[in-house]
Amino acid sequence: MKKKTLYLSMCGLAAVLLLVAASIGSDSTKADKEETVKHDYIGAKKCRICHKDVHASWKETSHAKAWSLLKPEEQKKTECVACHSTGTTAKGVLLEGVQCEACHGAGSDYRKKSIMEDRGLSIKNGLVIPDSTVCVGCHNDKSPTFKGFDYAKYRANEKGIHVMLEQTKEADRDQE
Ligand code: HEC
Ligand code: HEC
Ligand code: HEC
Ligand code: HEC
Repeated sequence: MKKKTLYLSMCGLAAVLLLVAASIGSDSTKADKEETVKHDYIGAKKCRICHKDVHASWKETSHAKAWSLLKPEEQKKTECVACHSTGTTAKGVLLEGVQCEACHGAGSDYRKKSIMEDRGLSIKNGLVIPDSTVCVGCHNDKSPTFKGFDYAKYRANEKGIHVMLEQTKEADRDQE
């Protein structure tokens, strides 16, 4: 019981410290800053360290294979690369195929365990819980092979999206 109280008060202290830190760092343009902050891509292999099952499942999706659909000469064309790749790491490495971060946002600032364990904090640091708006960034008529996009149908298509883990489904995080 005592331990718990101590723990709680430490949480409170941590929260206060965070608030103080946030207010020191803030000024009138804080909102602007938050919008323009740029996170770097780190690549699916880094996510795999903690998300082995999801990674294994994603590997089997057509998204993971999207780069190989392009012929060698097309892999040099920016107009094809955009939707068949994820982005470029801070070191300038092109991440081939539609990797985790194409849907979940660049991970350099939310990848740490202490942040990832806290959903709100992860989102503040760039994690995206994808909805249809993320998909239509690529599934649109700028694609030369566009055949239309029905979110519900595509979302349920196992060729496109990795398995969801039971634990996350059951946790029903949205109610927090
Ligand atoms: C150091 C370990 C670690 C790394 C690296 C990591 N994660 Fe996580 N991630 C976690 C933990 C822990 C959770 C909390 C939920 C859980 O226990 O599965 C989580 C949760 C998530 C969630 C679920 C959020 C929600 O509440 O619905 C997503 C999505 C996610 N991570 C994506 C990623 C992506 C993408 C990467 C790579 C850019 C990544 N993670 C890297 C540990 C990690
Ligand atoms: C706006 C994003 C976007 C751009 C730009 C884009 N693609 Fe795609 N491409 C997609 C999507 C999304 C699919 C999956 C279509 C589906 O299954 O609905 C796809 C599928 C494909 C396929 C698989 C064939 C098929 O009918 O599904 C090939 C081949 C392909 N693209 C080649 C290219 C080439 C070559 C270029 C450059 C000239 C290009 N793409 C540019 C988004 C794009
Ligand atoms: C094409 C888009 C897409 C890609 C690529 C993708 N995800 Fe997801 N991911 C989703 C969607 C959609 C959800 C469900 C979001 C929701 O509604 O809660 C999800 C949920 C998750 C969750 C939480 C749900 C659970 O039960 O596991 C984790 C963790 C996760 N993704 C990690 C990853 C990792 C790691 C990768 C790369 C290996 C990845 N995702 C690639 C779209 C994607
Ligand atoms: C970065 C661009 C990009 C994003 C973001 C993206 N996709 Fe895709 N998607 C593609 C490309 C490219 C293909 C074609 C891959 C292939 O055929 O190998 C594809 C293929 C698919 C397929 C497979 C179609 C089939 O029948 O084989 C499904 C399903 C799909 N996407 C659903 C989604 C959903 C749902 C989301 C959002 C949660 C999403 N995609 C986000 C680019 C993207």
